[in-house]
Amino acid sequence: FSSPSYNNIIVSQPKPSVTLITLNRPKALNALNSELFHEINAATAAADDDAAVGAIVITGSEKAFAAGADIKEMKDKEFAAAYKSNFLGHWTKLTTIRKPIIAAVSGHALGGGCELAMMCDIILASPTATFGQPEINLGVIPGAGGTQRLTKALGKSLSMELILTGRPLSATEAASHGLVSRVVDEGTSVVDEAVKVADKIAQKGAVATQAAKEAVNASFELNLQEGNRFERRLFQALFATKDQKEGMSAFAEKRKPTFTNE
Ligand code: CAA
Repeated sequence: FSSPSYNNIIVSQPKPSVTLITLNRPKALNALNSELFHEINAATAAADDDAAVGAIVITGSEKAFAAGADIKEMKDKEFAAAYKSNFLGHWTKLTTIRKPIIAAVSGHALGGGCELAMMCDIILASPTATFGQPEINLGVIPGAGGTQRLTKALGKSLSMELILTGRPLSATEAASHGLVSRVVDEGTSVVDEAVKVADKIAQKGAVATQAAKEAVNASFELNLQEGNRFERRLFQALFATKDQKEGMSAFAEKRKPTFTNE
């Protein structure tokens, strides 16, 4: 088995349990062209299928996580072609990945870059990170979930302001409004920090981490009663796993659990 070669991303294993995907179009500030997103889909699907991997980190460069969809690639596109090919539809494949995904964001996360980060499960930001949906300046609107996910994260008023004016949000503002889970300290690498968090997640039982991700994501789709019912069913189902027996026995025996992901 040899790993596939990619043109726009670099895939590495900083730890055996963590797949790190680094967007690598530095000259275009990691603008997300169609091929790049197909590569993200292929690399995340491969990590999802790899039993040794417990979590995935997606990052860009110091200067840009990603400056958006590739404007040069789409500027001459016509409606019929965009509609018939369901333009950007393939981006949502990322949301079907079962393992937790952490976005490690430095620099610009704009347009599709912000939307890519928001499709991940956790966003960690460096102090230089900025988030925004500047599509209005291009005569369009966000097209990969920006109007929906930003609004769920920030509420209506601030999302409207950002989407209608194109103003970017600083890392501190993003953290204070809950768009990112935290901003790492100046001088700390956001990628190293994300890999640490990913490795910590990977040490837990994989059935439970996937169930947790599924349940949290269900809160965006279901009403409270249905969401709680879904959570409870998953919780009950976890009593059929070896990891539940191991986790609870280890607690009672005052030792560290060793999960086997079964
Ligand atoms: N698409 C294609 N190329 C891009 C790009 C993008 N989204 N963003 C930057 N680039 C390219 C620039 O064209 C430039 O290339 P050249 O050297 O060949 O001219 C190179 O990257 C460096 O960019 P700048 O010289 O502009 O760098 P800067 O530091 O002066 O500015 C920036 C940085 C503010 C991020 C600026 O590049 C910018 O505004 N980029 C566009 C941001 C944007 O509008 N994003 C939304 C895209 S639409 C979208 O994403 C739709 C959706 O919802 C999915």
